Amino acid sequence: MSIKSYDEYRNFAEEHLMDYIPEIDHKSITLYDSMKYSITSGGKRLRPVLLLASCEFSGGTMVDALPYACALEYIHTYSLIHDDLPAMDNDDFRRGNPTNHRVFGDAIAILAGDGLLNSAYEIMNMDMLMYFDNPIALKKRICASYEISKGSGVRGMVAGQVADIEAQGHSCSKEMLDYIHLNKTAALIVSAIRAGAYIGGADSERIEALTSYGENLGLLFQITDDILDVTGDSAEMGKATGADAKNNKSTYISVYNLEKTKQRAINLADNAKKALSNYGKDAQFYIDIVDKVLIRTK
Ligand code: IPE
Ligand code: IPE
Ligand code: MG
Ligand code: MG
Ligand code: MG
Repeated sequence: MSIKSYDEYRNFAEEHLMDYIPEIDHKSITLYDSMKYSITSGGKRLRPVLLLASCEFSGGTMVDALPYACALEYIHTYSLIHDDLPAMDNDDFRRGNPTNHRVFGDAIAILAGDGLLNSAYEIMNMDMLMYFDNPIALKKRICASYEISKGSGVRGMVAGQVADIEAQGHSCSKEMLDYIHLNKTAALIVSAIRAGAYIGGADSERIEALTSYGENLGLLFQITDDILDVTGDSAEMGKATGADAKNNKSTYISVYNLEKTKQRAINLADNAKKALSNYGKDAQFYIDIVDKVLIRTK
């Protein structure tokens, strides 16, 4: 097991992200342009980084995990395109650029999101087909694909987005708030970690520890997103601030307050680190990510 740095994983994913866009007929070139626009416009690439690292942490290689890392970043990017639409959060900037619908219009933005989502499954299925004669390797990949489909679907991100929209303008219970954050954001982060671990061949103890780490990190990630929406710098983040208040969103800040939210973030960071305490120095990469997320400014 040798774990690389965040930047190495990010660069590796970044270098190959465009390799996986399926060939699209020239007659639908706008679809290609619109998908490419959002895929190549930057972003932290947290989910592919976690997926690649978790595969190596569990004994695999990042080459094995690459198709799944790219597929997950496609799904994440689609979720952002749809999240920004006028019918959802109605945002004009994303990743430092005008949002997809501001450039291509609502209809193409919706379809680019659909294109990215479906391409993700095409990428994973193509990879699985290559392991048809190797049941052990195939099973690992089916598990990874299942994790990704579950975390991004109706028992994960999509469900969380529905709850987020329905909680707009209403008082929201603390339990409901956790449900929203765990699903709309933590679910994809957990999927990234678990999918990578499956491809790497992790045992059940490692999967369990990584899952607990991922849930805490995922909640922490959305809480810091909520904090940055209030205290952050929009130029640095590449997206508007103050959007949650404008949309009457239920966030940790609206349900608790800024001080309590910051305390919750610290507690979640501690819990995430504790989840991997059995792995000592081997888990340093994951500890560093927690610290990075806790003090992030973008
Ligand atoms: C934004 O995710 C959506 C949330 C879950 C808060 P990121 O902050 O990871 O966005 P990018 O990929 O870096 O643009
Ligand atoms: C988005 O949460 C979570 C997604 C599934 C895309 P937000 O709506 O808070 O994300 P930002 O602030 O627009 O990036
Ligand atoms: Mg949203
Ligand atoms: Mg949003
Ligand atoms: Mg936000």
